[in-house]
Amino acid sequence: MKSQDIRKQFLEYFKSKSHSIVPSAPMVIKDDPTLMFTNAGMNQFKEFFLGNSIPKNNRVTDTQKCLRVSGKHNDLEEVGHDTYHHTMFEMLGNWSFGDYFKEEAINWAWELLTEVFKINPENLYVSVFEGSEDRDNLGLDTEALELWKKIVPEDRIIYGNKKDNFWEMGDQGPCGPCSEIHIDIRSEVEKAKAPGRDLVNMDHPQVVEIWNLVFMQYNRKANGDLEELPAKHIDTGMGFERLCMVLQNKQSNYDTDVFTPLLNEIEKITGVQYGKSEDSNIAMRVIADHVRAVAFSIADGQLPSNTGAGYVIRRILRRAIRYGFTFLNTKEPFIYKLVPVLSEQMGVAFPELKSQQGLMENVIREEEASFLRTLEQGLVLLENLMKDSKDKTISGEKAFELYDTFGFPIDLTALILRENGYELDEKGFEAELKKQKDRSREATAVSAGDWIDLNEVEEDTFIGYDQLEAEVKVAKYRKVESKKKGEMYQVVLNKTPFYPEGGGQVGDKGIILSSDGEVVDVVDTKKENNLIVHFTKELPRNTDADFKAIVNKTERSNTASNHTATHLLHQALRSILGTHVEQKGSMVQSGYLRFDFSHFSKVTSEELEKVETFVNARIRENLSLEEQRNISYQEAIDQGAIALFGEKYGDSVRAIRFGDSMELCGGIHVRNTSDIWYFKITGESAVASGIRRIEAISGEAAMEYFEEQTNILEEIKSGLKNANDPVKAINNLQDENIALKRQVESLLKDKAKNLKSELKQEVKNVNGINFLSKRVDLDAAGIKDLAFQLGEEIDDLFLLFGTEQNGKALLSCYISKDLVKEKDLNAGQIVRELGKYIQGGGGGQPFFATAGGKKPDGLNEALQKAESFIK
Ligand code: ALA
Repeated sequence: MKSQDIRKQFLEYFKSKSHSIVPSAPMVIKDDPTLMFTNAGMNQFKEFFLGNSIPKNNRVTDTQKCLRVSGKHNDLEEVGHDTYHHTMFEMLGNWSFGDYFKEEAINWAWELLTEVFKINPENLYVSVFEGSEDRDNLGLDTEALELWKKIVPEDRIIYGNKKDNFWEMGDQGPCGPCSEIHIDIRSEVEKAKAPGRDLVNMDHPQVVEIWNLVFMQYNRKANGDLEELPAKHIDTGMGFERLCMVLQNKQSNYDTDVFTPLLNEIEKITGVQYGKSEDSNIAMRVIADHVRAVAFSIADGQLPSNTGAGYVIRRILRRAIRYGFTFLNTKEPFIYKLVPVLSEQMGVAFPELKSQQGLMENVIREEEASFLRTLEQGLVLLENLMKDSKDKTISGEKAFELYDTFGFPIDLTALILRENGYELDEKGFEAELKKQKDRSREATAVSAGDWIDLNEVEEDTFIGYDQLEAEVKVAKYRKVESKKKGEMYQVVLNKTPFYPEGGGQVGDKGIILSSDGEVVDVVDTKKENNLIVHFTKELPRNTDADFKAIVNKTERSNTASNHTATHLLHQALRSILGTHVEQKGSMVQSGYLRFDFSHFSKVTSEELEKVETFVNARIRENLSLEEQRNISYQEAIDQGAIALFGEKYGDSVRAIRFGDSMELCGGIHVRNTSDIWYFKITGESAVASGIRRIEAISGEAAMEYFEEQTNILEEIKSGLKNANDPVKAINNLQDENIALKRQVESLLKDKAKNLKSELKQEVKNVNGINFLSKRVDLDAAGIKDLAFQLGEEIDDLFLLFGTEQNGKALLSCYISKDLVKEKDLNAGQIVRELGKYIQGGGGGQPFFATAGGKKPDGLNEALQKAESFIK
């Protein structure tokens, strides 16, 4: 059975059990501070488990793109070394939200595996939670045990501990006991050697877990306690790639049709056969796995970068590049060439791979090229370190510097050192790494207390589209502490006019005013698992009081102006540059807006002008906001609305239209485009290969901008002779400046010529060497020029010049090439040693080198010492 059909059959099976098939949520998570990437199918349903919102259908099924590379579930280091772990993988799942529980979950899982997929039941083992005697003090899951006993002989039921059979998503949140289904796919010969049940959970590549059935019944609180959830739920997850391995009778996930097209392409590009050696096998698996993780992230809108989720993606890609570089000898970008294969193969189930293919290729190619350059530079640096090392050891600090500052991977450092007979102080490196990790952990650590519940949250909590003030109650609150922001409170209201950060728009600020007159500032608003959370510095004295929630109106209307301007900008770009323009990120604040989009080249100034004119024309057309709340996704798309990749849309959406601009959007907008006043682009730049960024302002900020520009112009005029025509006056000044510079240059040349003949007189013979050490008043280029001219005219010459320029010292040493050879002199070494007198360092070639330093007072001493090198 082809992998496509396996996926389909799974979903169809649960559809026949009244589950709705829902799309995978994006792999990159945007509204949950506890999680960067989707690491399990249940993430997108967390709000239902916690009782924060009510699902439309209480039975759903899907295949979810997951990434397990950070936090509690992190498989990165195993990937490639074994044949069944992945960074990105698909998790097939079925869910019950307060509907069916253990009995149906267990029976359906068994029926699907043994009767639909026809897996031999004798190869399957199941596990149940044995209970724990720790602080949770939980008993054996007898309910699951009894259900399993009805269908599986007891000798294939395993009692599992907390690590294996109690599933928790993270340090906090919904959790519960689970039953895992394991499969033994060893050959009959191997099976005779050891019973399968002894190999379950023993990291055996052919005795692996394929499905986890979690019986969600608890919530893990911040203080570590368990509390019962309001209702009991089912959460299951089956590894799609492993299921394919089983159903396609393979011994490794990489031998299934999920991976073989990629491996074949890697073979074609590198000329290395899969199966040739263990090292190259690992490298090929790493690359086949990682290209999926990276490509899916880019399609979801997450580009490689230096922070957060982007940094994780960059590290995954770099791991793949490094394995190729080291074990497949790939010195040119090549991973991007796998993208077409991937998109061909997975594009049906995940259409974003097709539509984003060009972007994925571009971004990956650029990243590869730049990291390969880093690797080349790192190799040179490492060679120098080896040359300078006296005891054939490289210190942890140096290796760490190479790793941290230049991005040179430590395992590569270790490998190269080993090959050259050098040692790496690994302990020292680990210590440096730990120091850095501690620093960043301290800087970002956040600890949240448990929610204190006071009142119910109303179903339609957000009322901020229609009002900026409302009478409210505190529904729940908790304290959070972070190194960065200190102590804060998170307050949830029964309903709120405050817009929570989302869709690129910042969260509202404002106040909560209590009936007894106390004012608490709301400094930010965010969404977390579907709760709207207000951040405050302090807690109202009486949380039971009646409150008035009041949004800051100025900030809100400036933000709305920028948000609508962003939609018009999007429309303008698509109309002027073409419909290949797709939004790749946006940031809408009260002060300005930022819009990232796919486009292959710099936007020219003529194009930018057209874009500005287009937007300002829409502003002057006085287009009214046409808003449709709660229309179906399909209806909106049919009407021409633009949806974004990497966004999670529910069945019903909100569509925003101004004239011909129509987008799915949950954000805040002006009533009429004329409220924007004016739109002005302030910057255009590159974010990554194929992605441009436009920064712009509107409304009040645009007005202030023009005022400021006028003031600057006035100031310029006041300093000019011909104030009536400032442009002409400045052009004149510039022409004059160029002419003066030319004059100075020619004067300096004359001066150097004179200097040269003076200096020639001063050269003296020391031990058969023509020697001169002197302070001169020239810049670095002038000195170099002079030294080489003297060198051409005088044989066996040794020169050391010192100069002070702008408070800094510079030493330049020239040695005739013959002298370098005969007397084994080295200008590079000499300036390095003399550098200490001027508190600096440098280097260069054996025949010419320079050293800069911050202590000009030391120049004379350095110049005096020069003679000792030839004596
Ligand atoms: N949430 C469960 C898991 O990820 C199914 O294993």
